[in-house]
Amino acid sequence: MTDTEIRRMDVQERDYFQHLFGKHVSRGQVRYLRCAHLDIYEKNRRGCTVVDAVSNRKFFDCFSSAGCFNVGRRNPKIMETLSRALETYDLGTHAVLSEPKISFATKLASLCPGDLSRVVLCASGADAFAAAIKLAKGATGRNDVITMNKGYHGHDGFSLSANGKDYYKELFLPLMPGFHIVPFNDLDAVRRVASKKIAAILLEPVQGEGGIHVATQEYMDGLRKICDEHGIMLIFDEVQTGFGRTGTLWAMEHYGVIPDIMFTAKSIGGGLFPNAAMVYRDMDLLVGYVEENPLFHTSHAGGSDLGCIVSSAVLDFLVENKVWEHAADVGKRFREGLMEIWRENTDYVKEVRGLGLMIGIEYKYEFLGAIMAECLARQGVWAAYSANAPQVMRFQIPITVTKDEVEEILVRIRAAVRSMRWYVVPLLPMAQIPFIRMLLDNVKIQIATFNIIRDIEELVTRYLLRR
Ligand SMILES: Cc1ncc(COP(=O)(O)O)c(C=O)c1O
Repeated sequence: MTDTEIRRMDVQERDYFQHLFGKHVSRGQVRYLRCAHLDIYEKNRRGCTVVDAVSNRKFFDCFSSAGCFNVGRRNPKIMETLSRALETYDLGTHAVLSEPKISFATKLASLCPGDLSRVVLCASGADAFAAAIKLAKGATGRNDVITMNKGYHGHDGFSLSANGKDYYKELFLPLMPGFHIVPFNDLDAVRRVASKKIAAILLEPVQGEGGIHVATQEYMDGLRKICDEHGIMLIFDEVQTGFGRTGTLWAMEHYGVIPDIMFTAKSIGGGLFPNAAMVYRDMDLLVGYVEENPLFHTSHAGGSDLGCIVSSAVLDFLVENKVWEHAADVGKRFREGLMEIWRENTDYVKEVRGLGLMIGIEYKYEFLGAIMAECLARQGVWAAYSANAPQVMRFQIPITVTKDEVEEILVRIRAAVRSMRWYVVPLLPMAQIPFIRMLLDNVKIQIATFNIIRDIEELVTRYLLRR
């Protein structure tokens, strides 16, 4: 079926689907998406836009499923590669050698800086995180790990233990022991914990879910030095920052700092077939561990033949088109545009920051992130705030976005930020009272309120249509 054949859906049908999803998957998820106008049914997925099958409205996809669509939605080149591959390949047997696995690993190694040339194929970002931690622990024989406040690396075992937001962890205590969470960009905090007991220091060069915080050069240099002094493995999570997103192929290239291990996922699959990888340096300590324990990390889906074929095509596309240069170029303009919007609204917009096409707007209060998601959706911009920092609206447009599209998105964001005044004018004075602020920042209250607003809107629309 081609995307144009996904037919329009009427409101009754949508409600029925939401009912079924609520019944069999999660009612809470339906309410969560609905309150932010994110309950769209994606059709005509192309480049950096999708069309909602219900309203038939076009949306700019500035969320990109948190960084999965760097090469655009349904990139024709990657789709063609995948359809050709389906004539011959399937997942392949997971531990068995194959040409797609070998050529992808070789290509990936050739595009990583320094001696980052050894690859472990994985199934997802969280899976690659686990592989990285296991390798660091196994090779050093140490147990403890330093990770960053507000960091995000996935939602299972190891990665949840490293999550920098307590909310996600509280229900599942005790988690993996030995994770020390320190403030980001604070070398002294790392120095206080670093010792010969620590196996790894792990961070995202630009925090995605943490609210688009960019590591400083001094911080990266300092971390490398601390790791060298104590024999600690430095690990970079390039799940969101990799594949051209920040204006270089890997974010680490901005710093000229080479970690001992890095891992990546998401856009590695071109938004079409999931895959992930962990890459480590060609150094005796790490290579020795893997040689002795060749199956220390495997899964049936990690590095599947189809996944590797797609990932190779993604790398070819990025290299042939130097997509990261485009990210740097349009990212600069996008950031300038957002700075203008910030200057027009300094009473509630705090800051604009980011690297390449990974940019966030920070508001003065947490609850404004939820309001902005709703105002953006009304302007046809589909975006989500950072999961571990709701006051930061992040924009991760597919990197294939054109300059004209960037201008159009900026016009819509400007209109959305302006329209926030309807909420901001009455709410900002109230937010000065700590108890009210606590209520406004409460996600459950936000969901309930915006769902009531949606209910009223839909009732009014139905009534007007009937007349
Ligand atoms: C920086 C980062 N690391 C790891 C992950 C986990 O990736 P996955 O969802 O593929 O498990 C994510 C997912 O959002 C992420 O943003």
